[in-house]
Amino acid sequence: MADKVYINQLAEHVGDEVTIYGWLYNKRSSGKIGFLIVRDGTGIVQVVVSKSEVPAEAWTALQEIDYEASLKVVGSAKADARAPGGYELLVSDLEVIGTSSPDYPVQLKEHGVDFLMEHRHLWLRSPRQVAIMRVRDEIIKAIRDFFYDRGFTLVDTPILTGAIGESAGTLFSTEYFDLGHAYLAQTGQLYGEAAAAALGNIYCFGPTFRAEKSKTRRHLTEFWMMEPEMAWCDSECSMQVQEEMIVYVVGRALERRRAELEGPLERDTSALEAIQSPFPRLSYTEAIEKLQAAGSEIEWGDDLGGEDETLVAEDYDRPVFIYNYPRQAKAFYMKENPEDPRTVLCNDLIAPEGYGEIIGGSQREDDYDKLLSRIREEGLPEDVYQWYLDLRRYGTFTHSGFGLGIERTVAWITGVQHIRETIAFPRTLNRLYP
Ligand code: 4AD
Ligand code: MG
Repeated sequence: MADKVYINQLAEHVGDEVTIYGWLYNKRSSGKIGFLIVRDGTGIVQVVVSKSEVPAEAWTALQEIDYEASLKVVGSAKADARAPGGYELLVSDLEVIGTSSPDYPVQLKEHGVDFLMEHRHLWLRSPRQVAIMRVRDEIIKAIRDFFYDRGFTLVDTPILTGAIGESAGTLFSTEYFDLGHAYLAQTGQLYGEAAAAALGNIYCFGPTFRAEKSKTRRHLTEFWMMEPEMAWCDSECSMQVQEEMIVYVVGRALERRRAELEGPLERDTSALEAIQSPFPRLSYTEAIEKLQAAGSEIEWGDDLGGEDETLVAEDYDRPVFIYNYPRQAKAFYMKENPEDPRTVLCNDLIAPEGYGEIIGGSQREDDYDKLLSRIREEGLPEDVYQWYLDLRRYGTFTHSGFGLGIERTVAWITGVQHIRETIAFPRTLNRLYP
């Protein structure tokens, strides 16, 4: 495959004879000329085959070729503004490597989402899905760059854990030899806190698991979370970092993935251009007042549901912070608010356009006694939190962090309605296949 060229490199090979490998996306023919649209993952190219220019067996093979057959195409590259992708290949030889079949399941027509999900391994090949995967990749790279450039160290935290990270209600557990049960991590945070005491500013990025029985468009049972943890940083400082990170990430998606956003994804990019500092901030109490004024039955102390979040965010064209929730609505590790001990020092970040919570963050309880009493209050097993309590026994420190859900962020930036399309192989309440 020495002379292999990827479709997105054709611009550098205009006039040359090149070989591309790919799959048949579409075709039409008129008499002695065949037009194929071939895709190779980097782009699409129009391939023009004249009966008189190619060996007879290549022409015959072409007559029977089905969608998604894999191909080797040799030809000379030509710029053509009218061709999809901007280039044409005038073919001198063509070989079918892997045949397909007329019953290739994912046709170019519309299919129901259940059907598409059942064929996710093939559906992924379609232009819109490819565009989503590319934007996801850019978002992840942008976040990594953001933290790397600010001196954060990536620390990989365990997936098999012995302690509950977030809430007892949504744990996946598995047998673990003679040690009883292990849980699949709901968060890397607790380990991130230990690493922050070693390294200062860290982040972890990995898959996290929640046995959530919710079938909403915002929930997966396996999702990826980016979780920075920052020593000597309070809740206010954490919100500042969140805001800078989001502005940076959206900017990178616009800068490097505009073609995907405006092409197959048909995203209104002007809504993304508006994502600039400062983000509006509302205290939880202000959010409740606002909801009540809008006719909601919600009461102080209740957690905000998806619809409440959408309602609060409606007035803004950029993400909105809601900070300092009542402690009963939040996890045990959040720091008590010294100015109002009914609340904790925390924030959610709610994306605009109805996408809901994309970040949950907080300052961590750094007082040994308060943390221990919260662990007891929640009925959590004290013995497995001894190492976590050690972080308060030996040199406790002000620290904060947050978790950004990658799939929700990708859904918002790409404008995709349901987060199941934002990960290659989504795991939901009723899906383990493919
Ligand atoms: O608010 P959460 O539960 O926060 C934590 O896990 C903290 N330990 C984070 C931290 O402070 N280090 O989850 C954080 C984010 C949510 O805002 C949401 O974007 C995403 O993770 N998330 C989910 N995404 C998809 N499916 C689910 N079931 C999700 N649950 C949370
Ligand atoms: Mg949350």
